[in-house]
Amino acid sequence: MRLKIVGSAAGGGFPQWNCNYYLSRAARSGVVGVWPRTQSSLAASADGQGWVLFNASPDIRQQIAATPELQSQAGRGLRNTPIRAVVLTNADVDHIAGLLSLREREPFAIYATDRVLATLRANSIFNVLDPAFVPRRQLQEGEDIEITDAEGQGTGVRVEAFSVPGKVALYLEDTARPDENYGSESGDTVAVRISNTQGNPAAFYIPGCARIDPGLRERVSGAACLLFDGTLYDDDEMIAAGVGPKTGRRMGHIAMSGVDGSVSSLADVPVGRRIFVHINNTNPVLDESSPEHEAIRAAGWEIGRDGMEIRL
Ligand code: MLT
Ligand code: MN
Repeated sequence: MRLKIVGSAAGGGFPQWNCNYYLSRAARSGVVGVWPRTQSSLAASADGQGWVLFNASPDIRQQIAATPELQSQAGRGLRNTPIRAVVLTNADVDHIAGLLSLREREPFAIYATDRVLATLRANSIFNVLDPAFVPRRQLQEGEDIEITDAEGQGTGVRVEAFSVPGKVALYLEDTARPDENYGSESGDTVAVRISNTQGNPAAFYIPGCARIDPGLRERVSGAACLLFDGTLYDDDEMIAAGVGPKTGRRMGHIAMSGVDGSVSSLADVPVGRRIFVHINNTNPVLDESSPEHEAIRAAGWEIGRDGMEIRL
């Protein structure tokens, strides 16, 4: 099985269009070791032919252009795509806006929880994806299924979705209910366990996660690969940088550092490879010469990059 990190940045990408922070400036000016990154997406293939995309980012057009495996294949008709299905892990802009770029009457299947499907239904712009070509299918949490294409042909990629601590998408927050996590419910943010029909070892893709609880530790224990929420290094990093008022906690993203951070919370959980994805443009690990980058690598983690491939 092949996994490809199609986009390793969080919402906004890196550099972000309006960002003048030192990291975005360095990425924009081509500083070695501060590599630009596109927004959050992963692709998986069981046979190297058909691909299942996990999240459709606003950068999808650029991502397909940079990824030959996701491009139209020669000799297969004037219009074709190896993208068989798109699995959504939440309804954040960085994970669903790319669906709009996949219009053009091309068949593929969308998989998401009922909460995320309800958001697509409520926004009529997504009707550019005619259900006659692009069926929408509900992911039932805890059910391990084979992803199939629009016609129901198997892809060989298996997925099990389960809720993780998180938050509803920013534009869906009920600000009158801050004590109830802004109206977030189960199914707003899911993790996916990705495996294949050959019984290869499984990987977990969790681009958004607010906390690591015992249940999550148990689930990912023994995984061949964990691709995990690397939005922030420090919980208050965006405040310290002066770019915004929110902590990671407020945004539904656990920080890498700190006693409750992802590095220490997962330190004793056995995992083959652990890789941070969904990295925000304020995260100092984006600079390969930073002490934070070094600390994360020393703790056994990799920092995801666009185009990085994992074979399982
Ligand atoms: C997030 O991951 O918290 C969102 O993608 C933020 C955003 O809407 O840009
Ligand atoms: Mn995001």
